[in-house]
Amino acid sequence: MNADIQSVRSNRKKEPMPSRLNILLIGGSGFVSGTLARLAVAQGHVVTAITRGQRALPVGVTPLVADRKQMAAFASALQQTETVWDLVVDCIGYGPEDALQDAALLRERAKHLVFISTDFVYAPDKRRFPQGEEDADYLADGYGGKKRQAEIVLATADTGAMRWTVLRPCHIYGPGSLLGCLPEHGRDSQLIDRLRRGESLRLVGGGHFLQQPILAADLAQTILSCADNPAAHGQICNVSGPTVVESWQYYQIIADILGVSLAVEELSVTDYLRANPERASFFCHRIYDLSRLSACGLRIPATPLADGLRAHVESLE
Ligand SMILES: NC(=O)c1ccc[n+]([C@@H]2O[C@H](COP(=O)([O-])OP(=O)(O)OC[C@H]3O[C@@H](n4cnc5c(N)ncnc54)[C@H](OP(=O)(O)O)[C@@H]3O)[C@@H](O)[C@H]2O)c1
Repeated sequence: MNADIQSVRSNRKKEPMPSRLNILLIGGSGFVSGTLARLAVAQGHVVTAITRGQRALPVGVTPLVADRKQMAAFASALQQTETVWDLVVDCIGYGPEDALQDAALLRERAKHLVFISTDFVYAPDKRRFPQGEEDADYLADGYGGKKRQAEIVLATADTGAMRWTVLRPCHIYGPGSLLGCLPEHGRDSQLIDRLRRGESLRLVGGGHFLQQPILAADLAQTILSCADNPAAHGQICNVSGPTVVESWQYYQIIADILGVSLAVEELSVTDYLRANPERASFFCHRIYDLSRLSACGLRIPATPLADGLRAHVESLE
């Protein structure tokens, strides 16, 4: 961290945060962002979401319409309001240009920015178990590499008096999304039907890769816990659920909920990777050290996987 950034941070003033927050979501009608929007409204916050307006927003959310890729139109949509947001959550930042846009447009307008990154920033072939944030090797390109570039931009940009936090969720599941955490049955719209038909699931590596899925509603709670939390400022934190399972066990839990048996056909990792090299990040153990999340005083996700998957299955039936 350079000296300028440190001095800007040390000059930040602690202002009292109201219990009813003014929250802006970039995104707001999708899976993660919609879950977050609903929770924030249910907690009594004043929630605005900026999207392209292609999907309906949850009840109680005030819309702003703009495409973030249209820089001038996006800036102008934000200028329609003079609000200084207590919390802004960039749910759809995918690259360095998005983080730059956040810093430039929000440093005078937001008290705290949360940027949603991903565990796919970590190089899959150079993992620690569990993987922490300190001792890490990163991807340089692709989805995870671009997210890492965005994190670096945010950590080095002029963010003024705005606090910021980056969260790195692992596989996110729950109502609002499809079931499935591993190829060839990741986000598989037919999963419940396949299991009921007794079809074997074709899992790469037999599904032996470890995972620690996080329920979207738990992630939303952790995001909201960043507000008015100076200890979270300037931090990049892993965030994952409380249950570590082999990927096949995720499917076994779903089969148990449905009252059917699970059959797995093992696909070769080597063959699958040869045909789908861009999917390499799925094929490693995805388990994480959450001690930084805890040290920052952020909410630790607590819903056991079996409970979260039950709610997820029920939402799809
Ligand atoms: N799913 C996972 O397992 C997982 C794991 C780790 C990290 N993540 C991260 O979690 C975040 C959320 O992922 P998600 O798939 O659930 O997304 P999401 O929150 O559903 O995002 C889609 C939302 O963004 C809006 N949107 C899309 N493009 C836009 C644009 N150009 N300008 C303005 N608004 C736009 C969409 O509305 P309109 O279409 O109306 O614009 C919608 O409200 C992402 O940052 C992802 O990388 C996901």
